[in-house]
Amino acid sequence: MIRTHPPATMSPPFPPLSTLLLFSLLLTSPVSAWKKEEFRDCNQTPFCKRARTRAPHSIPSLSVSSLSLSDGAVSARLLPSQLLQSPTDSTPASPRALTLRLSVYTPGALRLEIDEDYSDPDAPSHRRFRVPDVLLPDVDDRHKLYLPRISSASPGVTSFYLPYGFEAVVQHEPFQIEVRRASNKEPILSFNSHGLFDFEQLRTNKSDGEDWEERFRSHTDTRPRGPQSISFDVSFHGADFVYGIPEHASTSLSLRPTRGPDVDFSEPYRLFNLDVFEYLHDSPFGLYGSIPFMLSHGTKSSSGFFWLNAAEMQIDVLAPGWDDPANPSPNRIDTLWMAEAGVVDAFFFVGPETKDVVGQYLSLTGTPAMPQHFAVGYHQCRWNYRDEEDVDSVDAGFDSHDIPYDVLWLDIEHTDGKRYFTWDKTLFPDPVGMQKRLAAKGRHMVTIVDPHVKRDDSFFLHKEATEKGYYVKDASGRDFDGWCWPGSSSYPDMLNPEIREWWSEKFLFENYKGSTPSLYIWNDMNEPSVFNGPEVTMPRDAVHYGDVEHREVHNAYGYYFHMASSIGVVKRGEGKDRPFVLSRAFFAGTQRYGAIWTGDNSADWDHLRASVPMILTLGLTGMTFSGADVGGFFGNPEPELLVRWYQLGAFYPFFRGHAHLDTKRREPWLFGEKNTALIREAVHVRYSLLPYFYTLFREASTSGLPIMRPLWLEFPQDKETFNNGEAFMVGPALLVQGIYQAGEKSVSVYLPGTESWYYLRNGVTYAGGRSHKMEVFEDGIPTFQKAGTIIPRKDRFRRSSTQMVNDPYTLGRTNLSKKKFSSECLIERVILLGLSANAKKAVIEPGNHEVDIELGPLSLRAGSSPVALTIRKPNVHVADDWTISIL
Ligand code: GLC
Repeated sequence: MIRTHPPATMSPPFPPLSTLLLFSLLLTSPVSAWKKEEFRDCNQTPFCKRARTRAPHSIPSLSVSSLSLSDGAVSARLLPSQLLQSPTDSTPASPRALTLRLSVYTPGALRLEIDEDYSDPDAPSHRRFRVPDVLLPDVDDRHKLYLPRISSASPGVTSFYLPYGFEAVVQHEPFQIEVRRASNKEPILSFNSHGLFDFEQLRTNKSDGEDWEERFRSHTDTRPRGPQSISFDVSFHGADFVYGIPEHASTSLSLRPTRGPDVDFSEPYRLFNLDVFEYLHDSPFGLYGSIPFMLSHGTKSSSGFFWLNAAEMQIDVLAPGWDDPANPSPNRIDTLWMAEAGVVDAFFFVGPETKDVVGQYLSLTGTPAMPQHFAVGYHQCRWNYRDEEDVDSVDAGFDSHDIPYDVLWLDIEHTDGKRYFTWDKTLFPDPVGMQKRLAAKGRHMVTIVDPHVKRDDSFFLHKEATEKGYYVKDASGRDFDGWCWPGSSSYPDMLNPEIREWWSEKFLFENYKGSTPSLYIWNDMNEPSVFNGPEVTMPRDAVHYGDVEHREVHNAYGYYFHMASSIGVVKRGEGKDRPFVLSRAFFAGTQRYGAIWTGDNSADWDHLRASVPMILTLGLTGMTFSGADVGGFFGNPEPELLVRWYQLGAFYPFFRGHAHLDTKRREPWLFGEKNTALIREAVHVRYSLLPYFYTLFREASTSGLPIMRPLWLEFPQDKETFNNGEAFMVGPALLVQGIYQAGEKSVSVYLPGTESWYYLRNGVTYAGGRSHKMEVFEDGIPTFQKAGTIIPRKDRFRRSSTQMVNDPYTLGRTNLSKKKFSSECLIERVILLGLSANAKKAVIEPGNHEVDIELGPLSLRAGSSPVALTIRKPNVHVADDWTISIL
């Protein structure tokens, strides 16, 4: 494998020639996988090490005082209990009071805010960072709809009602919070029940001999504001498993414990957006994006916890017995949350169902944006399609091999020297013509726009950003200068709304020369990736708008960048377009701005397997429009792996093939006729399901329910499903089982629930609630349709989804009677599974029109044999009201 990122130890800002030579050498020297030593572990991260080594209840406890109800919220002060008991002990070095605020949001969320008391004359003038623009703008007013009603005034305890029969109980001394069912007092969630809440208050002075600087490898973090971390414990009661907090690569859907007896991982789950070269497929190490939202599920309850904080976070999932091996607590999962900076701005979600928990989280951070229809099709990418001729020939290859696709992508080499918004004039002399040729077939193009701006005085973007003072500053106040693809680069400060506005205008057609309405955008390297920075990112003491340190906003930098680009695309389309922008980095709320993918995976079976839990986890945390690079980014997949990846990828919400610059070409027709046919078949499966996927995207954009779902989201009482990360649901009707090993001959598929399932290969019925050993075939992975469901399809294959818009529908099953939109499209076929073979005729209303029921194939694809009862040509309009009665 060829390494393309230079080492993290290169010194900024202008590398000497010798370093550049070293860099070019590194570009061509082989390396093995993940470089652990380039990244900090918990022991090398002082706030994590400190918090992790504390024993329960070992920190001086806090007490709640001066509790009042105001502005629809419960407000109070938090003081060390000792100080409250003997106030005269107070010295100038004593901790100041913290402010506590609790408010209730419909539907079903309790918000907890803890911050410094800035009215205290001893408080530092600098305010701790609260992440703006993540919660929907109306959220702050929404809590006033559900005013806390204090339900008991027993001394030392304050409790108030939450929606759906829950209540929050605040214990004053020692401070802790419990959310429980009001009727039977059964706890659901608790905060600080292990006494691990610790809040390092900002200080203006160091203690004697104290060193605030932190060193890692060759980097020094000046930490001018000193320690400011926060940690606390949260317990999920009645939970069998916890899920969420992407992004980590894992083959397990549930979060495995990281501390306590018999754990698999010894590090906590890290949330710190990083560009990780050749990441491991199973690790708690943090990847490109962070969503600090955890869900719990069990047969008794489902709940959720979200901490709105963009600083580095580390989260331990504690195995039963972690605190007392002799007394492991069943039915409760304890977790420890640690962040380097910020405030406590946290939400407890009470469900009661997991779907409610997802909805409650999205009611605060927004439902996913509705994508364009074309974005739901197949995307063809590679680093890089060389020139216009290459683009035309790949495009023609899809046509000559009868494989539909919708979008052709151009990676960084299409630009003039990695200056985004420009074109390499020799390789791409006529970008408009190229896009028009694609558009003529209903196809689109995507180009890459990264956040690092080449520091070249003749580059308009750099000139403007420099003149306007729009770059993030380094600790000494100069424009931060780091190393990325173009060499020496600076990074627009996307935290500033004015800079986002400026950036968004760069996408207007008059500014992005050579772009046309069929061109959309890919944001990469927005963690941000800085090759010579500490841990391949920006130093934590860099400074953003509002005197915010990078450490405080790090995990949201990519979010703001994505937001600005997405707003740009919508602005370019005069507000009528939808924002198709793919991003690598993400944060809570990213779902409102576009899609993400799981970054630089590898062409091996383990990465294929890990892609499913990763995408399922993203879906549970709102980021449903996601996918993994089909084929694996690094390395050359053997044809069988590539085929299996297409077969699985056809069910990812975002379906894109992509490959590293140094890999062999792998367009679908390069592996012999048989494999071409298998990949064609996989892509055809996706295209036939486009109406179903598009409907699910619509559902996601309104209710927030993910498209690709863990089985337990649909079958919350079926314990067998709770940790199944190999099979998944697409919407409520389709179950897909991946094949994750070479040469697999059979696979055991667990079909949940009590209903039966129809195997979509042959229409045979299988019972729910048990595992079935299924023979594995090379031409597809096992898929099943749930009894009693309807899957709309389009079975005529064209060049792109755009060309299928007016094609007729096939309905997989019966009894649809809906009017939603106007359309000329007809239903050309209804396929009925699970009906007695005696059914011979059907009557269609209106019109009392009798038709024959015949035996037909399950799909129109080549080789499908007649196995299912079929009503051919009912010829009713898809948008009309109609009924079909079986005689
Ligand atoms: C990063 C991206 C990858 C892209 C490459 C070049 O490694 O993750 O998808 O191809 O940069 O832009």
